[in-house]
Amino acid sequence: MASVTTPSTATGDPRSTQGNSANGEAVRAMRPSTLGALGLGSVLDIFSKGRLPVRADELVDQVFGPKEERGAMVISGACGVVGAGKVMQFASRLLPYGVPVIALDLPGANDGVQQQFDGLVKSFGKETANAIMNNVIRLNYDGTSLPKELERYKPKLLLEAIPEKLELKKAHYALFRETFPGIHIWSVTSGFPSAQLGVDIAHPSFPHQINKVFEIVEARPTPQTQLLWALGLVPMKVGDHWSFVLDVFFCGLLQATLQFCRHTNTPYWKADKYVRRLIGPNPFRAHDVIGAKGANYLTWSCLHHLAEAYGPLFTPDEAFTARMRSGQAWYPPDHFRPLVNWSLDAEQEQALEAIVEGALLQMTSIVLHEQRADLPTMNAIGELCAQFSNGILARARRMGPERIAQQVGAYHRLFPAAAGTTWYPGTFMNMAEGAWTQLYVNAEHNGKAGVITISRESYNDDVDAELNRAIDWLLGQGIHRVILTGDFHLATQLVGADTLAFHPALSDEREGERISLAWSRTARRLHHDFRASVGFIHGKRCMGGMLELMMHCHQLVAVEDTLLAMPEVTIPVLPGMEGCHWPFRKADAEGRKKLLRLLLEGRPVKAADATGWLVDHAGTLEDAVRTAWQVMEQDAAALKPRPFAEGPVKAPDAAEAGLAPVDGPLKEARAAIARCVAEACNAPVELALTVQARHSAAFMTGSLCRKGRLGSDYDKMMKH
Ligand SMILES: NC(=O)c1ccc[n+]([C@@H]2O[C@H](COP(=O)([O-])OP(=O)(O)OC[C@H]3O[C@@H](n4cnc5c(N)ncnc54)[C@H](O)[C@@H]3O)[C@@H](O)[C@H]2O)c1
Repeated sequence: MASVTTPSTATGDPRSTQGNSANGEAVRAMRPSTLGALGLGSVLDIFSKGRLPVRADELVDQVFGPKEERGAMVISGACGVVGAGKVMQFASRLLPYGVPVIALDLPGANDGVQQQFDGLVKSFGKETANAIMNNVIRLNYDGTSLPKELERYKPKLLLEAIPEKLELKKAHYALFRETFPGIHIWSVTSGFPSAQLGVDIAHPSFPHQINKVFEIVEARPTPQTQLLWALGLVPMKVGDHWSFVLDVFFCGLLQATLQFCRHTNTPYWKADKYVRRLIGPNPFRAHDVIGAKGANYLTWSCLHHLAEAYGPLFTPDEAFTARMRSGQAWYPPDHFRPLVNWSLDAEQEQALEAIVEGALLQMTSIVLHEQRADLPTMNAIGELCAQFSNGILARARRMGPERIAQQVGAYHRLFPAAAGTTWYPGTFMNMAEGAWTQLYVNAEHNGKAGVITISRESYNDDVDAELNRAIDWLLGQGIHRVILTGDFHLATQLVGADTLAFHPALSDEREGERISLAWSRTARRLHHDFRASVGFIHGKRCMGGMLELMMHCHQLVAVEDTLLAMPEVTIPVLPGMEGCHWPFRKADAEGRKKLLRLLLEGRPVKAADATGWLVDHAGTLEDAVRTAWQVMEQDAAALKPRPFAEGPVKAPDAAEAGLAPVDGPLKEARAAIARCVAEACNAPVELALTVQARHSAAFMTGSLCRKGRLGSDYDKMMKH
């Protein structure tokens, strides 16, 4: 496969996939890195330069001024749903840099900030929670003139989170600009374009303090946005259009589900269950959980403006308008739900698919036509922010252009009004090319060494296929040294296999075996197809299938405080990507005991504590990045690989591993994993592949797994 040129994107940065690295070497990539849209270069740059593109302390100086005259961040509407969450998020992250957060609201506003305190204690403990609260200065004002005291804090950045009313917001900015002319203003608006507001946008995908994603609208990359990234948040560059990307999907899904409910007279809570199975989220419950009054208004407002800009595809119907006014929740109280359950018939299920998929795909075509974001970002927004099981672009890619056209056609037959809004079937015509083929996995190289990046937290068949393409591409380019890593952006951790992929395997052993064999064979390519391969582990944690994947590299280099875990025993499932024998082939007898403990206890271990038996080198981020790159440049001279035993190795006895005794299902799951370890280790490496796959597949169809978390998640999703 040749390297590809991707079309220009909403980033305003129409990059070809060729360029130069920091050292002036020619760099080629399968597609542009998503970091590029934020002005942060590429992942290859991070390794070849031996450091991250920006540092939080330097950016804090740029954004808030030097230490001796540090300014403040102001969050207005601080007591509201979004404001309160963001006050906590920023106060905790800016505390180490001495940047106070001014929480501004009207007198008499609900005390949203105080309500967040319990969550803060849970996350940080009482002492740090108190320190964070000390970093929050709460000010009231009348909404028309700013409090005099504000000047003392030299505000440098305003995050505006006041109600979604255009004129109110504009007047608010005028007030701030008058008093603080140089202040950088971000709006958290769900739907008003930057061109209407006259300020940049940082739209948090959900209001809570734990949500890290922000859709960013700005003309060019700013230090403010780069600071979000440096503070561990996830800014994503999107184009300046009504409702950005997330709310087109999030509000669009509610719109489509409402249409289905009306068409078939299905109650909302019932439709929710089917949509959960088909797409991933429960649109109605999500509104109730956020707070129906506020959420109904925001969704209605987004749809209303989208309808004005694009047409009747988005027009909220009268029933929704009534609910927006009343703020009534979508779910009835539990005691009003009928005890007698019923299911949709085949025709109704078909209608649901046509309406929900058809509407979403038509909306997606508009977002694609406008190039609102690069494709991996657009796809990730659905998964990370709207709980789509598969990103909408990955879904479209699986369907293919013909099926998409059929589904949109079927939707238009049921809702002819939607055909009055343009749709762009042509946007789905080139799905076998360019960035379309690499939504989750990218590869770059400088002519000597390559970097493969994973942008999805969990492994599934899409990631597997893309990883194979990335390996093929690098080999085709004559690259035989590679680093496998998370993407430093969309995937802040690598959590393991996507358990949704296992649902069919609960009742079909062959499917379980297929998954295990296919994914393991891909992982083995990292061992067999390259002269040097380094699994680079960073971020919050790396677990399960993702850790097994990484283990297949010749060496594992990790950031010292990243957590590593094999939590399968707690689900329970059996590791399916060779975790039961592969790492044992590289460890000594003591190391093998520790590996067995890792597998049988399911508890995380810090990378620094796994050095020598699982990890080859652990250090600070910069040290780890440099070490990984040295292996690319010097092979064994930089880091000697541990020898790999191809023949049988002696598995430790579970009794020797020093495990605390347990009972019940956990005991049984431990025994099943220990059996798999013993048999797979006892086989030569070429046979161990099938030994492990058979154990893993057989366990998944057994009653222990069925009664565990995987089985109950499946039931929750499939039973109505
Ligand atoms: N709620 C969500 O899920 C969500 C998600 C993303 C973005 N947003 C956006 O966040 C913004 C706020 O929404 P919300 O749901 O938090 O609303 P909210 O009603 O919960 O909060 C608004 C807050 O602003 C205060 N306020 C009103 N006028 C003010 C003024 N002139 N100056 C200072 N404070 C003022 C109110 O007292 C209230 O505390 C909206 O633009 C919305 O589109 C909301």
